[in-house]
Amino acid sequence: MTEFLGAAAHIARQAGALLLPYFHRRVKVEYKGDVDLVTEADRASEAFILERLRAYFPSHSVMAEETGGRDTDSPFRWYVDPLDGTTNFAHSYPVFCVSIALAREGEMIVGVVYDPTRDELFAAEKGGGATVNGVPIRVSAIERLEEALVVTGFPSKKRHKNPNIHFYHEMNMRTHGARRPGSAAIDLAYVASGRMDCFWEFHLQPWDLAAGRLLVQEAGGRMSDAEGKPHRLDSPSILASNGHLHEQLLQAFGEISTGKYQAELPPVSRTG
Ligand code: IPD
Ligand code: CA
Ligand code: CA
Repeated sequence: MTEFLGAAAHIARQAGALLLPYFHRRVKVEYKGDVDLVTEADRASEAFILERLRAYFPSHSVMAEETGGRDTDSPFRWYVDPLDGTTNFAHSYPVFCVSIALAREGEMIVGVVYDPTRDELFAAEKGGGATVNGVPIRVSAIERLEEALVVTGFPSKKRHKNPNIHFYHEMNMRTHGARRPGSAAIDLAYVASGRMDCFWEFHLQPWDLAAGRLLVQEAGGRMSDAEGKPHRLDSPSILASNGHLHEQLLQAFGEISTGKYQAELPPVSRTG
């Protein structure tokens, strides 16, 4: 393990441990936007992570969700989501994590996602594979979309401008089922570890996906945007899969985005 991965893993584990007492005592919720929540736990975790990164790597840049971070002229930039899954956290639903990634000259070289409620640390390093708690992980071997378990998420800002509910509906019809657990970083880590077969979402931020994206790539998965173009940190959509399903997913997404599906509301009362 390199110095960078070691530091990221150590800091993510400590930040996750810091979150747990807040989780158990149910913290007060504030609103950043209409339904975009933030808590004192998000802030405490971010302050801790930024302080540690500054101590270890004072010259590096950082992009962090709650405070913005800092810009230096270093080729290294950290991406920090101090608590991914804040809405779950605020409702005592135990699906949330800490996500930390490091890029060198724009290329992601380290990514860690730590889930403190399950004590699972997903870690990846460019060219070095991906692990959970030190054990190598690999994407699933599912080859047919009809047999896939797929996962997605919905933003807490500008929900009416997000097309995903249509994709969610249709993907539920075309697969074994679509889940929306509420933490994009964990969703990506689950694709990397073969617990899910694909993940997609629209309008994510770099800190949501920087670590998870490297996990999927290092676990043998494939990444693009929802139209099949190469995925960039600022792409408007992300599609991460086990690779085998990618072309079928792009075809399905093409059909859904051009309105080639007929979702009629079935009667709400039972008709027999
Ligand atoms: C959110 C979670 C969620 C995703 C949202 C994100 P936050 O991050 O990752 O799964 O659907 O788009 O904003 O606000 O809990 O850090
Ligand atoms: Ca997030
Ligand atoms: Ca967050």
